[in-house]
Amino acid sequence: MKFHIETWGCQMNDHDSEKLSGMLVREGHEAVGSVAEADLVLLNTCSIREKAVHKVHSQLGRLRELKAQRPLLIGVAGCLAQQEQEALFKQAPHVDFVLGTMALQQLPRLLEEAKAGRRVMDTAEYPDNHLFPPEVTQRRSTAKALVTIMEGCDHACTYCVVPTTRGPERSRPVADILDEVKLMVEQGFREVELLGQNVNSYAGGCSFAELIERVSEVDGLEWIRFTTSHPMNFTRELGRTLATNPKVAPFLHLPIQSGSNSVLKRMLRGYTVEEYLERLGYLGEARERFAISTDFIVGFPGETDEDFEGTMAVLEQVRFDASFSFIYSPRPGTPALRLSDDIPAQVKAQRLARLQKRQTELTLASHEKAVGKILEVRVESLTVTEQGHWLARTGRWENVHLTVGAGRTLPFGSLVRARITGAGPHFLRGELA
Ligand code: SAH
Ligand code: SF4
Ligand code: F3S
Repeated sequence: MKFHIETWGCQMNDHDSEKLSGMLVREGHEAVGSVAEADLVLLNTCSIREKAVHKVHSQLGRLRELKAQRPLLIGVAGCLAQQEQEALFKQAPHVDFVLGTMALQQLPRLLEEAKAGRRVMDTAEYPDNHLFPPEVTQRRSTAKALVTIMEGCDHACTYCVVPTTRGPERSRPVADILDEVKLMVEQGFREVELLGQNVNSYAGGCSFAELIERVSEVDGLEWIRFTTSHPMNFTRELGRTLATNPKVAPFLHLPIQSGSNSVLKRMLRGYTVEEYLERLGYLGEARERFAISTDFIVGFPGETDEDFEGTMAVLEQVRFDASFSFIYSPRPGTPALRLSDDIPAQVKAQRLARLQKRQTELTLASHEKAVGKILEVRVESLTVTEQGHWLARTGRWENVHLTVGAGRTLPFGSLVRARITGAGPHFLRGELA
């Protein structure tokens, strides 16, 4: 069959799609670039906010029209599949199969059944889901290899669906992770990103800090990244490793969510603003080199003007290099539903706009500091928008639009030296040094 996978959501979903794609290729199916060419469309969905769910449903609507015209198999995987389960068949009767987040390796079986005309679902929790064979995975990036180190989340943030959609924490054994990283280096990757909903609580035989040290011993590997870190499990040991291990790329995404202790408490985040700041301090002098990014939720139930000023104050204090901010979205099955979603939509929107405006200024100021420097950057791809401009990333995860002499090509994934010549809020400009 010709298949097309559409992916929403976070890096875990991106990587799951690489695994799903790998299994389909192994079974002899062929990946195609669009829905129009496909006999099988697999939607790998996200349900973190209501908007993410809307996007899936509108795509399902378009697929229904297509399926009325020609044969088409439709599968739904990912967090919405795990959350809705058989309800999805009621909402969208044209869906042929539903695959849960903890049952990835059941895809070939579900597909066989669906091809035979049976409507099937598997949303069980398979204990070996996180032990997916790495050689099967079809990686989309040539610059950075995603490597699962743990799945699931044992936290219980009151607004969040992830503990339900991804299940409890399961860590991959250290040896498996090291084998995969070595395989990636053999295949030509020089950078890995260690993935988990909460990498800091890694427990596959050593601490997360130790795991980074072990991974860094793999010859030929240049940069290590990881996502996502939870402030509650951010230890002094981890801070020291990040600060001192030369292979750790100087970028830390550490979601704070709010700058108000009473909001953090209602979110059940397990730290105060002061504790968050203390943990950032574990980076010591390396703090200056590191780009720090975060996530914010605005308009959480009961968030007062004063609470929100706390968020603006912490933004100013940390001067985050980047942040992702969202309006609180009430999610099915989460404890925060018991709190009344009492902030008027207009107030939420104003708060979000103010936060994002200030963040844009801070990001620009952060980028401007790079102008005039010569930095090592990793070549990722050609930009679509501008011919002859290459897209690269600094260790701090900044986008660089790189001008390379006419007719020259750069191998994807290679590190080159770039002179930074300009900065905007979304990217740096540079030329080959
Ligand atoms: N495991 C990560 C977060 C993963 S979800 C962590 O705890 O740091 C990514 C981000 O989505 C969160 O950091 C949060 O800012 C946002 N988010 C999660 N649930 C949300 C909701 N119900 N409404 C709005 N934003 C939400
Ligand atoms: Fe969700 Fe909290 Fe787990 Fe992050 S730590 S995935 S926000 S429950
Ligand atoms: Fe979305 Fe699931 Fe990731 S809800 S953000 S795809 S873990």
